[in-house]
Amino acid sequence: MKFTVAIDGPAAAGKGTISRAVAEKFGFAYLDTGSLYRAVGVKALEIGRGVIDPVVAARVAGNLSDTDLNRDDLRTGMAGQAASKVAAMPPVREALLEFQKDYARREGGAILDGRDIGTVICPEAEVKIYVTASDEVRAERRQKELVPDKPDLTVGQVLIDLRARDARDAARDVAPMKPAQDALLLDTTKLSIDAAVAEALALIQKRIG
Ligand code: C5P
Repeated sequence: MKFTVAIDGPAAAGKGTISRAVAEKFGFAYLDTGSLYRAVGVKALEIGRGVIDPVVAARVAGNLSDTDLNRDDLRTGMAGQAASKVAAMPPVREALLEFQKDYARREGGAILDGRDIGTVICPEAEVKIYVTASDEVRAERRQKELVPDKPDLTVGQVLIDLRARDARDAARDVAPMKPAQDALLLDTTKLSIDAAVAEALALIQKRIG
């Protein structure tokens, strides 16, 4: 059986939590596509010491190992910014395209979260959900996640960081962040994690029939 769930939306809207819960409930494989761009961004920073050469980054993108994708430092704010810079480079997106497309149509069902899953990676996905939340709520959530490693980090700093990243992701020429025309919108601003997950599960269950 091929069944794809495409989850898109801005940073810290709840995509990861929802995707993991869906994957567990329906037995789907889960790919956090942001981790691909984060891994490329972090590698490119190391190689280029801040100056990212698109050709180098693209070569890196095609050669990511499991170790690269599971590095502890991928979740930092710096990795997020580096990711969104390399993600605007067409050769980087091109290098990651086939892997994601194949993943989306694998047997047994798959859920992918990112920015362009419903629009570019898998426009034929059976379910597309665009997850959003207010900027302030997203910044609070992300700050809570990051503060154990960075005790001085304020919600205000995270808010600036998220807005910069969202603006870059939405404005780029290739595969900008936007809802697919047929995506269902899920605003998690006022929802608890459990309620957001329950809504997503219900939407998917309805499509599965
Ligand atoms: O989802 P996450 O915040 O980990 O993604 C990090 C960055 O990777 C995003 O800000 C975006 O620039 C990029 N990205 C992308 N397309 C995707 C997933 C992530 O451009 N499908």
